[in-house]
Amino acid sequence: MQAREIAPKVALIGAVDWDRRLFDSLIPLPDGTSYNSYLVRGSQKTALIDTVDPAKSDTLMEQLAEAPAIDYIVANHAEQDHSGSIGCVLDKYKNAVVVCTPKCKDMLVDHLRIDADRIRAVSDGETLALGDKTLEFVYTPWVHWPETMVTYLREDNVLFSCDFFGSHLATNELFATDEERVAEAAKRYYAEIMMPFRTTIKKNIEKVQAHSIALIAPSHGPVYNRPAFIIDAYKEWISDTPKNVVVIPYISMHGSTRAMVDRLVAHLTMHNIVVHQFDLAVTDIGKLAIALVDAATIVIGAPTVHVGPHPTVLYAATLANALRPKAAFASVIGSYGWSTKALEQIAAAISHLKVEILEPVLAKGYPRETDFVKLDALADAIAQKHSAAGLK
Ligand code: FEO
Repeated sequence: MQAREIAPKVALIGAVDWDRRLFDSLIPLPDGTSYNSYLVRGSQKTALIDTVDPAKSDTLMEQLAEAPAIDYIVANHAEQDHSGSIGCVLDKYKNAVVVCTPKCKDMLVDHLRIDADRIRAVSDGETLALGDKTLEFVYTPWVHWPETMVTYLREDNVLFSCDFFGSHLATNELFATDEERVAEAAKRYYAEIMMPFRTTIKKNIEKVQAHSIALIAPSHGPVYNRPAFIIDAYKEWISDTPKNVVVIPYISMHGSTRAMVDRLVAHLTMHNIVVHQFDLAVTDIGKLAIALVDAATIVIGAPTVHVGPHPTVLYAATLANALRPKAAFASVIGSYGWSTKALEQIAAAISHLKVEILEPVLAKGYPRETDFVKLDALADAIAQKHSAAGLK
Protein backbone atom coordinates (compact mmCIF):
# COMPACT_ATOMS: atom_id res chain seq x y z
CA MET A 1 0.00 0.00 0.00
CA GLN A 2 1.24 3.52 -0.80
CA ALA A 3 2.08 6.02 1.91
CA ARG A 4 -0.96 8.12 2.75
CA GLU A 5 -0.83 11.51 4.46
CA ILE A 6 -2.86 12.01 7.63
CA ALA A 7 -1.40 15.50 8.21
CA PRO A 8 1.13 17.66 6.30
CA LYS A 9 4.29 15.57 5.84
CA VAL A 10 2.93 12.91 8.20
CA ALA A 11 2.21 9.64 6.39
CA LEU A 12 0.71 6.33 7.38
CA ILE A 13 2.79 3.43 6.09
CA GLY A 14 3.14 -0.10 7.49
CA ALA A 15 1.22 -3.23 6.63
CA VAL A 16 -2.36 -4.43 6.61
CA ASP A 17 -2.42 -8.10 7.67
CA TRP A 18 -5.72 -9.17 6.11
CA ASP A 19 -5.19 -12.87 6.68
CA ARG A 20 -3.86 -13.13 10.21
CA ARG A 21 -6.32 -15.02 12.37
CA LEU A 22 -4.48 -15.49 15.66
CA PHE A 23 -2.37 -13.21 17.83
CA ASP A 24 0.01 -14.31 20.58
CA SER A 25 -1.06 -17.84 19.60
CA LEU A 26 -4.10 -17.07 21.77
CA ILE A 27 -6.29 -14.23 20.54
CA PRO A 28 -8.60 -14.77 17.56
CA LEU A 29 -8.46 -12.05 14.90
CA PRO A 30 -11.68 -12.49 12.91
CA ASP A 31 -11.04 -9.28 10.98
CA GLY A 32 -7.24 -9.45 10.66
CA THR A 33 -5.14 -6.57 11.91
CA SER A 34 -2.65 -3.92 10.79
CA TYR A 35 0.76 -2.79 11.95
CA ASN A 36 0.89 0.94 11.37
CA SER A 37 4.07 2.94 11.04
CA TYR A 38 4.10 6.67 10.58
CA LEU A 39 6.70 8.71 8.75
CA VAL A 40 7.07 12.26 10.09
CA ARG A 41 9.21 14.52 7.91
CA GLY A 42 10.38 17.66 9.64
CA SER A 43 12.30 20.41 7.85
CA GLN A 44 15.56 19.05 9.29
CA LYS A 45 15.02 15.52 10.54
CA THR A 46 12.78 12.57 9.76
CA ALA A 47 11.30 10.17 12.28
CA LEU A 48 9.66 6.80 11.82
CA ILE A 49 7.14 6.04 14.54
CA ASP A 50 6.84 2.31 15.28
CA THR A 51 7.69 -0.41 12.77
CA VAL A 52 5.82 -3.60 11.86
CA ASP A 53 5.63 -7.26 12.72
CA PRO A 54 8.70 -9.17 11.48
CA ALA A 55 6.46 -11.09 9.06
CA LYS A 56 5.79 -7.81 7.25
CA SER A 57 9.29 -6.32 7.30
CA ASP A 58 9.58 -6.52 3.53
CA THR A 59 6.41 -4.48 3.09
CA LEU A 60 7.76 -1.75 5.34
CA MET A 61 11.16 -1.70 3.67
CA GLU A 62 9.55 -1.40 0.22
CA GLN A 63 7.66 1.65 1.45
CA LEU A 64 10.89 3.14 2.74
CA ALA A 65 12.69 2.58 -0.57
CA GLU A 66 12.21 6.23 -1.52
CA ALA A 67 13.04 7.58 1.95
CA PRO A 68 16.63 8.88 1.73
CA ALA A 69 17.11 9.31 5.45
CA ILE A 70 15.59 8.31 8.74
CA ASP A 71 17.15 9.98 11.74
CA TYR A 72 14.99 8.56 14.51
CA ILE A 73 12.92 5.43 15.04
CA VAL A 74 10.44 6.05 17.81
CA ALA A 75 9.56 2.80 19.60
CA ASN A 76 6.43 3.47 21.60
CA HIS A 77 6.28 -0.17 22.67
CA ALA A 78 8.72 -3.08 22.65
CA GLU A 79 6.30 -5.83 21.62
CA GLN A 80 7.45 -7.47 18.43
CA ASP A 81 4.46 -6.55 16.26
CA HIS A 82 5.73 -2.94 16.46
CA SER A 83 9.42 -3.32 17.22
CA GLY A 84 10.15 -6.44 15.20
CA SER A 85 11.38 -4.58 12.11
CA ILE A 86 13.53 -2.01 13.90
CA GLY A 87 16.61 -4.09 13.09
CA CYS A 88 15.92 -3.91 9.35
CA VAL A 89 15.49 -0.14 9.52
CA LEU A 90 18.69 0.28 11.53
CA ASP A 91 20.56 -1.84 8.98
CA LYS A 92 19.47 0.44 6.16
CA TYR A 93 19.87 3.77 7.94
CA LYS A 94 23.26 3.55 9.61
CA ASN A 95 22.91 6.82 11.54
CA ALA A 96 19.38 6.24 12.76
CA VAL A 97 18.80 6.21 16.51
CA VAL A 98 15.99 4.42 18.33
CA VAL A 99 14.09 6.61 20.80
CA CYS A 100 12.08 5.02 23.62
CA THR A 101 11.55 4.83 27.39
CA PRO A 102 14.37 3.42 29.54
CA LYS A 103 12.35 0.25 30.22
CA CYS A 104 11.70 -0.13 26.52
CA LYS A 105 15.41 0.19 25.84
CA ASP A 106 16.13 -2.81 28.07
CA MET A 107 13.34 -4.79 26.43
CA LEU A 108 14.54 -4.03 22.91
CA VAL A 109 17.96 -5.35 23.87
CA ASP A 110 16.47 -8.43 25.57
CA HIS A 111 13.85 -9.34 22.96
CA LEU A 112 15.44 -8.17 19.73
CA ARG A 113 19.14 -7.99 20.58
CA ILE A 114 19.31 -4.43 19.29
CA ASP A 115 22.63 -2.73 19.97
CA ALA A 116 22.12 -0.61 23.09
CA ASP A 117 24.46 2.05 21.66
CA ARG A 118 21.86 2.78 18.99
CA ILE A 119 19.05 3.37 21.48
CA ARG A 120 18.42 6.65 23.26
CA ALA A 121 16.18 6.60 26.32
CA VAL A 122 13.96 9.65 26.73
CA SER A 123 12.29 11.02 29.82
CA ASP A 124 8.59 11.65 30.34
CA GLY A 125 7.63 14.89 28.60
CA GLU A 126 10.93 15.18 26.70
CA THR A 127 10.73 16.69 23.23
CA LEU A 128 12.58 15.98 20.02
CA ALA A 129 12.90 18.71 17.40
CA LEU A 130 12.67 17.69 13.75
CA GLY A 131 12.91 21.28 12.51
CA ASP A 132 9.41 22.56 11.91
CA LYS A 133 7.89 19.60 13.75
CA THR A 134 8.27 18.64 17.40
CA LEU A 135 7.67 15.25 18.96
CA GLU A 136 6.75 15.05 22.64
CA PHE A 137 7.04 11.74 24.46
CA VAL A 138 4.43 10.92 27.07
CA TYR A 139 4.90 7.92 29.34
CA THR A 140 1.76 5.79 29.45
CA PRO A 141 2.83 2.69 31.39
CA TRP A 142 0.79 -0.50 31.30
CA VAL A 143 -1.04 -0.04 28.05
CA HIS A 144 -0.39 -2.91 28.11
CA TRP A 145 3.27 -3.51 28.98
CA PRO A 146 5.24 -1.61 31.64
CA GLU A 147 7.40 0.32 29.16
CA THR A 148 4.73 1.87 26.92
CA MET A 149 4.61 5.52 25.88
CA VAL A 150 2.77 7.58 23.29
CA THR A 151 4.17 10.29 21.04
CA TYR A 152 2.49 13.64 20.45
CA LEU A 153 3.19 15.75 17.38
CA ARG A 154 2.70 19.26 18.66
CA GLU A 155 2.33 21.25 15.45
CA ASP A 156 -0.35 18.96 14.02
CA ASN A 157 -1.97 17.75 17.27
CA VAL A 158 -1.51 14.11 16.33
CA LEU A 159 -1.27 11.48 19.09
CA PHE A 160 0.60 8.36 18.02
CA SER A 161 -0.80 5.90 20.55
CA CYS A 162 0.52 2.48 19.45
CA ASP A 163 -1.65 -0.21 21.11
CA PHE A 164 -3.55 2.35 23.22
CA PHE A 165 -6.93 2.99 21.51
CA GLY A 166 -6.00 0.52 18.75
CA SER A 167 -8.16 -2.05 17.02
CA HIS A 168 -7.37 -5.38 15.41
CA LEU A 169 -8.98 -4.51 12.10
CA ALA A 170 -7.63 -5.00 8.60
CA THR A 171 -8.98 -2.21 6.45
CA ASN A 172 -7.79 0.11 3.71
CA GLU A 173 -9.92 2.92 5.11
CA LEU A 174 -7.54 5.55 6.40
CA PHE A 175 -9.90 6.90 9.03
CA ALA A 176 -12.39 5.24 11.38
CA THR A 177 -15.42 6.25 9.37
CA ASP A 178 -17.42 3.08 10.13
CA GLU A 179 -17.46 3.75 13.86
CA GLU A 180 -19.76 0.85 14.72
CA ARG A 181 -17.38 -1.66 13.14
CA VAL A 182 -14.29 -0.05 14.63
CA ALA A 183 -15.92 0.12 18.07
CA GLU A 184 -16.45 -3.65 18.09
CA ALA A 185 -12.84 -4.30 17.03
CA ALA A 186 -11.45 -1.78 19.50
CA LYS A 187 -13.56 -3.20 22.33
CA ARG A 188 -12.32 -6.70 21.53
CA TYR A 189 -8.76 -5.39 21.62
CA TYR A 190 -9.37 -3.52 24.88
CA ALA A 191 -10.95 -6.60 26.46
CA GLU A 192 -8.15 -8.91 25.47
CA ILE A 193 -5.13 -6.88 26.50
CA MET A 194 -6.06 -3.62 28.24
CA MET A 195 -8.83 -4.64 30.66
CA PRO A 196 -6.49 -5.92 33.40
CA PHE A 197 -5.01 -2.41 33.63
CA ARG A 198 -8.21 -0.36 33.92
CA THR A 199 -7.00 1.78 36.82
CA THR A 200 -3.74 2.73 35.13
CA ILE A 201 -5.48 3.38 31.84
CA LYS A 202 -7.74 5.91 33.54
CA LYS A 203 -4.69 7.92 34.61
CA ASN A 204 -3.16 7.61 31.16
CA ILE A 205 -6.31 8.92 29.49
CA GLU A 206 -6.21 11.96 31.77
CA LYS A 207 -2.57 12.45 30.87
CA VAL A 208 -3.05 12.37 27.11
CA GLN A 209 -6.18 14.51 27.32
CA ALA A 210 -4.05 17.32 28.69
CA HIS A 211 -3.03 17.70 25.05
CA SER A 212 -5.16 19.10 22.26
CA ILE A 213 -5.78 16.09 20.01
CA ALA A 214 -6.98 16.40 16.42
CA LEU A 215 -6.06 12.84 15.38
CA ILE A 216 -5.32 9.65 17.25
CA ALA A 217 -3.03 7.51 15.12
CA PRO A 218 -2.78 4.03 16.66
CA SER A 219 -0.47 1.28 15.45
CA HIS A 220 -3.37 -1.14 14.87
CA GLY A 221 -6.48 -0.26 12.89
CA PRO A 222 -7.62 2.99 11.30
CA VAL A 223 -6.80 6.54 12.42
CA TYR A 224 -9.37 8.35 14.55
CA ASN A 225 -10.30 11.72 13.05
CA ARG A 226 -12.93 12.03 15.76
CA PRO A 227 -10.85 11.25 18.86
CA ALA A 228 -13.80 11.72 21.24
CA PHE A 229 -15.36 8.57 19.75
CA ILE A 230 -12.65 6.24 21.03
CA ILE A 231 -11.77 8.21 24.17
CA ASP A 232 -15.41 8.19 25.31
CA ALA A 233 -15.66 4.48 24.53
CA TYR A 234 -12.57 3.78 26.63
CA LYS A 235 -13.99 5.83 29.50
CA GLU A 236 -17.13 3.72 29.46
CA TRP A 237 -15.19 0.45 29.31
CA ILE A 238 -12.88 1.34 32.22
CA SER A 239 -15.65 2.72 34.43
CA ASP A 240 -16.18 0.90 37.72
CA THR A 241 -19.90 0.47 37.14
CA PRO A 242 -20.94 -2.69 35.30
CA LYS A 243 -24.19 -3.09 33.40
CA ASN A 244 -27.26 -5.18 34.13
CA VAL A 245 -25.63 -8.08 32.29
CA VAL A 246 -24.92 -11.72 33.12
CA VAL A 247 -22.31 -13.67 31.17
CA ILE A 248 -22.63 -17.46 31.14
CA PRO A 249 -19.68 -19.37 29.70
CA TYR A 250 -20.48 -23.07 29.85
CA ILE A 251 -19.84 -26.55 28.53
CA SER A 252 -22.36 -29.38 28.38
CA MET A 253 -21.34 -32.93 27.48
CA HIS A 254 -24.70 -34.73 27.61
CA GLY A 255 -27.26 -31.93 28.01
CA SER A 256 -27.59 -31.77 31.80
CA THR A 257 -25.59 -28.59 32.36
CA ARG A 258 -27.20 -27.14 29.23
CA ALA A 259 -30.66 -27.71 30.75
CA MET A 260 -29.53 -25.84 33.85
CA VAL A 261 -28.21 -22.95 31.76
CA ASP A 262 -31.49 -22.79 29.83
CA ARG A 263 -33.52 -22.60 33.03
CA LEU A 264 -31.30 -19.92 34.53
CA VAL A 265 -31.39 -17.83 31.34
CA ALA A 266 -35.19 -18.12 31.18
CA HIS A 267 -35.56 -16.83 34.73
CA LEU A 268 -32.99 -14.06 34.28
CA THR A 269 -34.93 -13.00 31.21
CA MET A 270 -38.07 -12.65 33.31
CA HIS A 271 -36.07 -10.19 35.40
CA ASN A 272 -35.15 -8.22 32.25
CA ILE A 273 -31.47 -8.98 32.72
CA VAL A 274 -29.37 -9.10 29.57
CA VAL A 275 -27.64 -12.47 29.17
CA HIS A 276 -24.68 -13.43 27.01
CA GLN A 277 -24.48 -17.22 26.82
CA PHE A 278 -21.36 -18.88 25.39
CA ASP A 279 -20.97 -22.57 24.59
CA LEU A 280 -17.23 -22.80 25.12
CA ALA A 281 -16.95 -25.74 22.74
CA VAL A 282 -17.53 -23.34 19.83
CA THR A 283 -16.95 -19.87 21.29
CA ASP A 284 -14.68 -17.18 19.91
CA ILE A 285 -13.00 -16.20 23.18
CA GLY A 286 -12.73 -12.64 21.89
CA LYS A 287 -16.54 -12.43 21.93
CA LEU A 288 -16.51 -13.75 25.49
CA ALA A 289 -13.90 -11.14 26.45
CA ILE A 290 -16.03 -8.36 24.93
CA ALA A 291 -19.04 -9.49 26.96
CA LEU A 292 -16.97 -9.53 30.14
CA VAL A 293 -16.18 -5.81 29.77
CA ASP A 294 -19.67 -4.80 30.94
CA ALA A 295 -20.94 -7.82 32.89
CA ALA A 296 -22.03 -7.45 36.52
CA THR A 297 -22.29 -11.21 37.06
CA ILE A 298 -20.48 -14.24 35.68
CA VAL A 299 -22.12 -17.65 36.03
CA ILE A 300 -19.85 -20.50 34.99
CA GLY A 301 -21.58 -23.62 33.71
CA ALA A 302 -19.32 -26.60 34.39
CA PRO A 303 -19.96 -30.28 34.09
CA THR A 304 -17.61 -32.46 36.09
CA VAL A 305 -15.09 -34.64 34.29
CA HIS A 306 -13.88 -37.29 36.74
CA VAL A 307 -13.94 -35.03 39.82
CA GLY A 308 -12.83 -31.69 38.40
CA PRO A 309 -14.49 -29.13 36.14
CA HIS A 310 -14.41 -29.74 32.39
CA PRO A 311 -10.92 -28.57 31.27
CA THR A 312 -12.37 -26.14 28.73
CA VAL A 313 -14.30 -24.42 31.49
CA LEU A 314 -11.18 -24.24 33.61
CA TYR A 315 -9.38 -22.63 30.68
CA ALA A 316 -12.10 -19.97 30.33
CA ALA A 317 -12.08 -19.34 34.09
CA THR A 318 -8.31 -18.91 34.00
CA LEU A 319 -8.64 -16.48 31.10
CA ALA A 320 -11.33 -14.45 32.89
CA ASN A 321 -9.12 -14.38 35.97
CA ALA A 322 -6.28 -12.92 33.89
CA LEU A 323 -8.50 -10.33 32.19
CA ARG A 324 -9.88 -9.11 35.53
CA PRO A 325 -13.25 -7.78 34.42
CA LYS A 326 -15.20 -5.46 36.70
CA ALA A 327 -17.91 -8.06 37.52
CA ALA A 328 -19.13 -7.91 41.12
CA PHE A 329 -20.85 -11.31 41.42
CA ALA A 330 -20.15 -14.86 40.33
CA SER A 331 -21.54 -18.33 40.67
CA VAL A 332 -21.15 -21.86 39.35
CA ILE A 333 -23.78 -24.24 38.06
CA GLY A 334 -23.39 -27.69 36.58
CA SER A 335 -23.97 -31.40 36.65
CA TYR A 336 -21.76 -34.17 38.00
CA GLY A 337 -21.91 -37.96 37.85
CA TRP A 338 -20.79 -39.32 41.21
CA SER A 339 -18.51 -36.80 42.95
CA THR A 340 -17.20 -33.30 42.24
CA LYS A 341 -14.56 -30.79 43.21
CA ALA A 342 -15.59 -28.46 40.37
CA LEU A 343 -16.63 -25.65 42.68
CA GLU A 344 -13.38 -25.58 44.63
CA GLN A 345 -11.23 -25.72 41.51
CA ILE A 346 -13.16 -22.98 39.70
CA ALA A 347 -13.10 -20.76 42.80
CA ALA A 348 -9.32 -21.15 42.91
CA ALA A 349 -9.07 -20.38 39.19
CA ILE A 350 -10.91 -17.03 39.55
CA SER A 351 -9.23 -15.96 42.77
CA HIS A 352 -8.13 -12.59 41.30
CA LEU A 353 -11.71 -11.52 40.60
CA LYS A 354 -13.18 -9.27 43.26
CA VAL A 355 -16.57 -10.96 43.21
CA GLU A 356 -19.16 -12.00 45.74
CA ILE A 357 -19.93 -15.68 45.19
CA LEU A 358 -23.65 -16.37 44.97
CA GLU A 359 -25.05 -19.79 46.01
CA PRO A 360 -23.89 -22.33 43.39
CA VAL A 361 -26.20 -25.02 42.02
CA LEU A 362 -24.70 -28.45 41.39
CA ALA A 363 -26.95 -31.30 40.26
CA LYS A 364 -26.18 -35.01 40.45
CA GLY A 365 -26.98 -36.30 36.98
CA TYR A 366 -29.80 -34.62 35.07
CA PRO A 367 -31.26 -31.77 37.15
CA ARG A 368 -34.32 -32.56 39.20
CA GLU A 369 -37.16 -30.14 39.90
CA THR A 370 -35.45 -29.21 43.18
CA ASP A 371 -32.37 -28.18 41.18
CA PHE A 372 -34.45 -26.07 38.81
CA VAL A 373 -36.02 -24.32 41.80
CA LYS A 374 -32.51 -23.54 43.06
CA LEU A 375 -31.64 -22.09 39.66
CA ASP A 376 -34.70 -19.85 39.85
CA ALA A 377 -33.51 -18.74 43.28
CA LEU A 378 -30.06 -17.98 41.87
CA ALA A 379 -31.65 -15.83 39.16
CA ASP A 380 -33.70 -14.05 41.82
CA ALA A 381 -30.57 -13.44 43.89
CA ILE A 382 -28.74 -12.02 40.88
CA ALA A 383 -31.67 -9.73 40.09
CA GLN A 384 -31.80 -8.55 43.70
CA LYS A 385 -28.05 -7.84 43.73
CA HIS A 386 -28.20 -5.94 40.43
CA SER A 387 -31.19 -3.95 41.57
CA ALA A 388 -29.56 -3.08 44.89
CA ALA A 389 -26.50 -1.86 42.97
CA GLY A 390 -28.74 0.33 40.80
CA LEU A 391 -27.62 -1.37 37.59
CA LYS A 392 -29.36 -0.60 34.33
FE1 FEO B 1 0.39 -4.39 19.29
FE2 FEO B 1 1.34 -4.88 22.50
O1 FEO B 1 1.49 -4.98 20.66
